[in-house]
Amino acid sequence: MTTKLRAHLVWAHPRDNSLTSALVRAVHDSLVERGCDVDELDLYRSGFDPVLHEPDEPDWDDPTKTYSTVVEELADRARRANIIVVVFPLWWYALPAVLKGYLDRAWNFGRLYGDNSGAKPSAVVWVALAGLSHEALDKRGHIDALARQLDDGVAGYCEIGDSRTIVLCDAIDAPDLVAYVNQVTQQLDEVVRDTRGQ
Ligand SMILES: Cc1cc2nc3c(=O)[nH]c(=O)nc-3n(C[C@H](O)[C@H](O)[C@H](O)COP(=O)(O)O)c2cc1C
Repeated sequence: MTTKLRAHLVWAHPRDNSLTSALVRAVHDSLVERGCDVDELDLYRSGFDPVLHEPDEPDWDDPTKTYSTVVEELADRARRANIIVVVFPLWWYALPAVLKGYLDRAWNFGRLYGDNSGAKPSAVVWVALAGLSHEALDKRGHIDALARQLDDGVAGYCEIGDSRTIVLCDAIDAPDLVAYVNQVTQQLDEVVRDTRGQ
């Protein structure tokens, strides 16, 4: 029997009936079909507060510092996963505030990066839905910039070896959910296979 992989599916969108949420449902199903146990975190409807207050500020001299209960729980959920998948709409070429705040707070020093942070997920897949066309984003370097920020700036700093950023374009004028799901599942196939092979 193949051991189940643990996937943490984190997503951000104000509406539960959005294109983003439809994609999340399809990604959830794809992960289950690929033999993963899925722990889903819907940041908006979980009531998550993205603002980092003093209790969650890192103490650079103390990686064992205990953070707020919600941050300890969310950091544990992220660390326990073999694979993390993050789905969001691209806002101002970047992450929605609730998702940025999730990284600020939950992917904290001594938990997801730095001394004492221990075992990590082996892969993270970032899935951004973008209103603009691929051409419009690419010609100004926005796709590379997002990938650099997430793959190198976040995942690399957390020593997560396999990080992939997928930008799904034309989400306003010509959304194609089937094509989006295919692009994501292609990457999930590789990530699941590589993670099992480790
Ligand atoms: C605040 C805000 C900022 C946005 N910024 C961008 C952007 O920088 N680049 C882009 O291609 N689309 C941008 N968009 C369009 C969204 O990416 C698009 O509406 C979304 O991906 C569509 O998915 P949804 O229907 O699930 O919201 C922005 C939308 C909003 C509301």
